[in-house]
Amino acid sequence: MKKYHGAYIKNDREIACLREANRMVANVLDAVGDMVAPGVTTKQFEELARDMCADYKVKPAFLGYCGYPFATCCSVNEQVVHGFPSDRPLEEGDIVSVDMGVVFEGFVGDAARTYPVGRVSDEARRLMRVTEESLYVGIEQARPGNDVYAIGAAIQKHVEAAGLGVVRRFVGHGVGAKMHEKPEVPNFRPASPGLTLHSGMVIAIEPMVTLGTHEVDILDDKWTAVTKDGKWAAHFEHSVAITPDGPKILSISDRGLNRHTIAA
Ligand code: MF3
Ligand code: CO
Repeated sequence: MKKYHGAYIKNDREIACLREANRMVANVLDAVGDMVAPGVTTKQFEELARDMCADYKVKPAFLGYCGYPFATCCSVNEQVVHGFPSDRPLEEGDIVSVDMGVVFEGFVGDAARTYPVGRVSDEARRLMRVTEESLYVGIEQARPGNDVYAIGAAIQKHVEAAGLGVVRRFVGHGVGAKMHEKPEVPNFRPASPGLTLHSGMVIAIEPMVTLGTHEVDILDDKWTAVTKDGKWAAHFEHSVAITPDGPKILSISDRGLNRHTIAA
């Protein structure tokens, strides 16, 4: 595979595999969305994800990655990312972020969404909406010739204009035969210029947005990231191919690209 400053340039066949991997991930996220309700546990999302992987004959991408023990990350309320699926029933008013990946023919699909559990507060709904909007604002910048940091600059501007915080500790990433490839795709604007995007690059853009501080702590389980101030967080992620015709979202389910908390 061709490389540009450490970032792999994928050919059409490789992008087709990434699209298929991401279609499966998006289908899992649709099915999870159908299940979300008060009383349901995030362990049930994990079981569903594993069952669908078995049906698709693909491997979950997260399970065993750096020792991560599950196929999904399920992060509730003040949990930002990398939450463990749990037996605690979700409650009306919670929000839950589900992140999921699969490996199809050696290529990784990776996407995430935040769901409302029953009726949620206006503040929580706004948090989800601004986060999902910021993902699309970032995707707009994923074009050949653009600095990869233009993505984060646009995300940060959108999020901070809404008075919300953008997490710095975790970033998006190139994605392909490995889940985490170059370049890093921060959701904020770093001081120095970054890599120039080229056609054939595929990146996962994944803003994590908070109602308060952008700072996070990691729990004793060594994985779960929570906000330092306990305020809630949301997370939306798409895998996106850089093409001469602009950004192409790969994580599209059989139901199509449904924006979840914002109007199309
Ligand atoms: N979407 C996350 C990421 O890109 C998921 C990784 S969770 C892990 O980093 F457990 F696999 F690390
Ligand atoms: Co990711």
